[in-house]
Amino acid sequence: MKILTDPRELQVEALRRRASGARIGFVPTMGFLHPGHTSLFDLARQQCDWLVASIYVNPLQFGPNEDLAAYPRNPDGDAALCEQHGVDCLFMPVELYASGHSTTVRVEQLSQGLCGTSRPTHFEGVTTVVARLFGLVQPNLAVFGEKDYQQLAVIRRMVQDLAMPIDIVGGPLIRDTDGLALSSRNAYLSPQERLRARTIYQALSLMQDMVQSGETHCATLLKAAEATLNVDRLDYLEIRDGRDLSPVDTVHPGTRAFAAAWVGKPRLIDNLELMA
Ligand code: PAF
Repeated sequence: MKILTDPRELQVEALRRRASGARIGFVPTMGFLHPGHTSLFDLARQQCDWLVASIYVNPLQFGPNEDLAAYPRNPDGDAALCEQHGVDCLFMPVELYASGHSTTVRVEQLSQGLCGTSRPTHFEGVTTVVARLFGLVQPNLAVFGEKDYQQLAVIRRMVQDLAMPIDIVGGPLIRDTDGLALSSRNAYLSPQERLRARTIYQALSLMQDMVQSGETHCATLLKAAEATLNVDRLDYLEIRDGRDLSPVDTVHPGTRAFAAAWVGKPRLIDNLELMA
């Protein structure tokens, strides 16, 4: 596995690979890798000739009071995991933006609501960094986890609107044995907080069970689910259409439940398709 830190060097290498007919796969990450990330590497690996992973904690997507400085890092462990999961090139830039960088990419509507309400600048930071990474990596396909479901929808929209010839592939959300969605930020949880964090998935699962028993009214589902949460602060608990993320009143095929809550230090997110 090749490790590159210089954006220009990566782009030269990627353009050379494209010219020789290679299908380039790409998995962007912020590091502190776990099985949720490696499942994305495995998915991409099956569909490309040259697999690039990036690790970059992107300052643009953090708000002023968020955890940018404290974001967990493990560069050596991450590099070993990338190699084990078939990554050909690991891009770990120290600085990603050229001096004088002044372009931002913003996807309207889909960036609002859900996580966009409490993190109003977050998705603009994500789309700006992903657009720049796409320019450097020149991927044919890129894989993003469904845990960040709104992010995936925003990136699909960006790629469509800007006519980027890149297949965006969603990788399934991976859970720990106790149901908690895998996240680098789980590292902040104490054992007691972790027990309470599990109630997020339990609340989503309760709605799924109720739907399977015939309940389809979102207000009834949400009321029952919220009562089971044991979190410090609920950001949102909502049911939306899984394609365009529009709010819905009743469950239909493709409807998803979304949750975000603070437990101790981290703000955790989760989502689950509600299937009858
Ligand atoms: O999902 C993430 O880890 C980040 O938002 C991403 C896509 C790597 C952009 O910084």
